[in-house]
Amino acid sequence: MFRSVITGCGAYLPAHCVTNDELAERVDTSDEWIVERTGIRKRHIAADGELTSDLAQAAAERALANAGIPAGEIDLIVLATSTPDETFPATATTVQARLGIAGGPAFDVQAVCSGFVYALAVADNFVRAGQSKTALVIGAETFSRILDWEDRATCVLFGDGAGAVVLRAENGVATNGTRGILSTHLHADGRQHDMLYVDGGPSSTQTTGYLRMRGREVFRHAVVNLAEVTTEALAQNGLEADDVDWLVPHQANRRIIDHTARRLGLAPEKVVLTVEQHGNTSAASVPLALDQAVSDGRIKQGDIVLMEAMGGGFTWGAALARW
Ligand code: UT7
Repeated sequence: MFRSVITGCGAYLPAHCVTNDELAERVDTSDEWIVERTGIRKRHIAADGELTSDLAQAAAERALANAGIPAGEIDLIVLATSTPDETFPATATTVQARLGIAGGPAFDVQAVCSGFVYALAVADNFVRAGQSKTALVIGAETFSRILDWEDRATCVLFGDGAGAVVLRAENGVATNGTRGILSTHLHADGRQHDMLYVDGGPSSTQTTGYLRMRGREVFRHAVVNLAEVTTEALAQNGLEADDVDWLVPHQANRRIIDHTARRLGLAPEKVVLTVEQHGNTSAASVPLALDQAVSDGRIKQGDIVLMEAMGGGFTWGAALARW
């Protein structure tokens, strides 16, 4: 019997940062509106020619360095993205080649903003099944490439970035007292397609398309689904909200995060927030936030960390770990 332990994390943000005031020069919006409705103050945008694989590779190399292991030990790469370099092959295989390794499975997971939680669950299940000893899980996005820069209701919300973690197999099942991923919880409801989707794709239009969102409806579903899935994760492990040291939520909107924390009864100091600096980086947002809280010393060994996310599909999920 095996469990997976997160032994390293890393992140990468493109150098170019765009403020709300700069966006207000392009579309009819204001810093005041964006901050009040979302909490976002700025976001990073990939440079021309800087691809999702570039962001992913940089985050992966930092995660490997943080875990103190050479790339050669990685036997599985799961990369969450909705903005792959190409329709195929998977961006995970590009990253694999750039890391100088070959042979182990490498594939992308597409669950939009829930992508990292989905990818973590997939990799955790490989480890539990004895099929991976050292896995790399990456969330990487260049959402700037699928935004309609004329649509103020969406273009102000998103940013580019990448985060990664290294999972190592340890002997013994995951229990409340052990380090490792305690449980993962994934859900989807494809009936909600029209709430959040991209209006293009290889099979439908042969174009990449742009992100379309009914923001208010997504917000309404997000607060319900995230409250349910975080409660489900705690209940499965016999834990109470008080046992949670850190909530590391998907960073879509400050108000959704505050609502989720309040519903759980979690003190605001236990919530890791990056939305202000990164905007919504989709599958990259949870590992970017994790990396920030680990690097600045907030998340320490032994802490109970609750991750959650919700995105297009709809998809949503949570993962609970003892760090
Ligand atoms: O990560 C995947 C999941 N995605 C999410 O979780 C996003 C969920 N939704 C949200 O975060 C929020 O719904 C938004 C931030 C997208 C929008 O906030 P809201 O408080 O729900 O605003 P709204 O959509 O109800 O729009 C209110 C008003 C509208 O004007 P009217 O109809 O009241 O005249 C919009 O046209 O704000 C207007 N508006 C803007 N005004 C200035 C929409 N976007 C902007 C903008 N600047 N950028």
